[in-house]
Amino acid sequence: MDAQEASVAENVTAPQVRARKVAAGGDPLVMVTAYDAPGGLIADEAGVDIILVGDTLAMVVLGYEDTLQVTVEEMAHHTAAVARARPRAMVLGDMPWMSYHVSTEETVRNAAKLIRAGAGAVKLEGGAKRAPMIRALVDAEIPVVGHIGLTPQSVHALGGFKVQGKQADAARALLADAQALVEAGVFAIVLEAVPDEVARMITESVPVPTIGIGAGPHCDGQVLVWHDLLGFQDRLRPKFVRTYAHLKTEAVEAIRRYAADVRSGDFPNAAESYHLPDGVAETFGRDAAVPEPEATLAFYGDDASLNP
Ligand code: KIV
Repeated sequence: MDAQEASVAENVTAPQVRARKVAAGGDPLVMVTAYDAPGGLIADEAGVDIILVGDTLAMVVLGYEDTLQVTVEEMAHHTAAVARARPRAMVLGDMPWMSYHVSTEETVRNAAKLIRAGAGAVKLEGGAKRAPMIRALVDAEIPVVGHIGLTPQSVHALGGFKVQGKQADAARALLADAQALVEAGVFAIVLEAVPDEVARMITESVPVPTIGIGAGPHCDGQVLVWHDLLGFQDRLRPKFVRTYAHLKTEAVEAIRRYAADVRSGDFPNAAESYHLPDGVAETFGRDAAVPEPEATLAFYGDDASLNP
């Protein structure tokens, strides 16, 4: 096995995720979003199973009001950044709106952009009507995760970001969608903003793991958005979010302290500054000759460290 085979073999794979039904004795799956290399490193070091490069990128990183604004090129750019962290976790690339709605050919080509950027699988939103696209992706050897319930790319069609499946008919339709996704070949399904009883019914009815967000405790795994979990934003806080840190508050406080130190002259201090070697300072006296450029370069040398 060469180094590349070894690193591929160590990654969390689609078949491994598919096998993680809690009812069959699997541990609950842990998924978190990340959008860049440091995020990928942190999530991987924390031991998550799947890093979702979600199209929430549009809202939490790029400042848009919904997820409809992000393109497949932007998703590939951020997927590549996460993949460069070389996480053990699966990198799951989210297919943005309009990247899988037009034709199966376009769907496969767009998914390939995410796979070439470093994703091990892709996720797309929608139920039975996405079956032809999912089959085409699976035929092209691209593992697919489904996503039903509140599908944010349908925000206009749904009339807002609302809990789905609250009535019996709607709950039955969600179950039928989940089964259609399984028949089409998905290896896991994200359930977003559905009542816990509906999530339980779907989880018990499908052979692939369900991964919930606002779908209660009966799923085979959970996913949270990076900025919600770490408290990087306080504008919007749905009740299903548990905030494990308050990094926005800490970041504002840290930058305030930095600004105060700059303004008071406390930063940088002597230990945070570079100093001339002994004897050289005198050559910089007001009356000293200006040194030749070669002499300046010599202070640093070819392999100068920034921490001498
Ligand atoms: O884009 C995203 O972050 C998602 C999660 C909310 C599941 O799809």
